[in-house]
Amino acid sequence: MPNAETSAARPAPVKRDDIPGWFFSLDRAAFGHLLSAQSAAGVTGDILELGSYLGRSAVLLGDHLQPGERLTVCDLFDSEAGDADNAAEMAMSYRKTLTRSAFEANYLAFHRELPEIVQAPTSVLADGRIPAGSCRFVHVDASHLYEHVAGDIAVARSALAEDGLVALDDYRSEHTPGVSAAVWEAVFTGGLRPVLLTPMKFYGTWGDAAAVREVLLRRDWRAGGYTVDEDTIAGSAVVRLNYQVKPPVERSTSRRLALDLLPPVATRATRRMLRTLRERRAAPPVPNA
Ligand SMILES: C[S@@+](CC[C@H](N)C(=O)[O-])C[C@H]1O[C@@H](n2cnc3c(N)ncnc32)[C@H](O)[C@@H]1O
Repeated sequence: MPNAETSAARPAPVKRDDIPGWFFSLDRAAFGHLLSAQSAAGVTGDILELGSYLGRSAVLLGDHLQPGERLTVCDLFDSEAGDADNAAEMAMSYRKTLTRSAFEANYLAFHRELPEIVQAPTSVLADGRIPAGSCRFVHVDASHLYEHVAGDIAVARSALAEDGLVALDDYRSEHTPGVSAAVWEAVFTGGLRPVLLTPMKFYGTWGDAAAVREVLLRRDWRAGGYTVDEDTIAGSAVVRLNYQVKPPVERSTSRRLALDLLPPVATRATRRMLRTLRERRAAPPVPNA
């Protein structure tokens, strides 16, 4: 049921960043790179998202649909959860802001047609309505509870084609140990091969992990402002990407002390003087001066 806050008219999003959610630039770049590489290589297949909230990640998934491909999203939106723990999760994080109509309005601000929408607990997808092997990419970002995530990973495994990719959100957050448990269980007992780790998401495949690594390393991530590292986990080479942190500008000790110890009026005067000196130094030389 929409509540007072959700039913208030919200302006339509103009930029994708206007859509609230938890899908940030590094994962946007990773999704874009992997999905584009699949299309460029002639890989076709549907795309599935479990947990869409207001559409921030779904809109990007929709950008990558090729003719004949289908995006299916599954979310409770304004429906009741099937168990008390999931209901508590919904109440704490999403209920105040989430409605299906808000998702639809956001999605339609960027695409002409809505995706296939399953408004239900993700557990319903275990009934086989997503044909086995039909997907090239699955994004799992719904409940954070272990039992739910383990089920979602099983749905992803069945839905994915042989070299399909799964992205699993919140695999390492302090408040989501159930996701971590389900993800690493799938690695150590379910044959899931990790290929990429970002601060927010685990990316894996039940297919050819080495081929995905090669695709990932084709891009110059460092030039884009990211750090690149590699690890080996359970025999799989894993790329790790993160945001480059700009080192703080180092001030000389005497300058720092002066700015810290001088009274504010003197500090302001000192800053003005330093700025003037800097500007003079940066000014182009006057010809024949
Ligand atoms: C973290 S949000 C998804 C964020 C979204 N992918 C984005 O990028 O902004 C989690 C979503 O999962 C949904 N959800 C939680 N438990 C669910 C369940 N058991 N079945 C279906 N959806 C569920 C919530 O309604 C919420 O919209």
